Amino acid sequence: MRAGASSGAFISFEGGDGAGKSTQIKRLAEALRTAGHDVVTTREPGGSPGAEAIRKLLLEGSADKWTPITEALLMYAARADHLERTIAPALQRGSVVITDRFADSTMAYQGLAGALGKETVAALHKIVVRDREPDLTIILDLPVEEGLKRAGAVGGAEQRFESKGAAYHEKVRQAFLEIAQREPQRCAIVSAEGDSETVAARVRDVVQKRLPSLFKA
Ligand code: TMP
Repeated sequence: MRAGASSGAFISFEGGDGAGKSTQIKRLAEALRTAGHDVVTTREPGGSPGAEAIRKLLLEGSADKWTPITEALLMYAARADHLERTIAPALQRGSVVITDRFADSTMAYQGLAGALGKETVAALHKIVVRDREPDLTIILDLPVEEGLKRAGAVGGAEQRFESKGAAYHEKVRQAFLEIAQREPQRCAIVSAEGDSETVAARVRDVVQKRLPSLFKA
């Protein structure tokens, strides 16, 4: 979703719980600011006042609180607000937008790993996202056990998805790899193993290769 002739770009980070997305987003945002860009970092579910209210409904409570279709509709309701109120205006201004999760999360968690199936998620995607896809999606890949260990260490009230069990999270991991295979132009898989410095260097390498104009003076 390049914003015309301006310098902006839309980048999403995806991956299982505990893959270290927020640390890597901070690091990439710093590098892009140093390169002269205005950078907006945001997240899903959330990223606008309305979508943050929906986030609370989604991430707190028991694992079976919502039926699969309600869960996916809430994710897409939040996404519609986030796109209209935060992402699209920032791209219009020429900013680089980096979001911690976007539509691939719904395809992976609700569509492929969950009970909903990919056709239903694809139908919602067509209505809400249309052609407003990220220019680049970085999928941070990590063995499930390691990810859940890292995510559990953070703790807090937002544990609804973490509590769904290792088998579900293994399906989520495979789902992201499948999405990357289906859309190699947009997606890049980056190993999240190792320290954050090492992973940041891998991420920067991918961004430089895929979106070279972002690092040109
Ligand atoms: P976070 O822990 O990365 O903030 O993500 C919150 C949780 O929400 C995470 O466990 C994944 C889940 N999620 C979905 O299941 N579907 C979605 O579409 C999104 C955006 C997140």
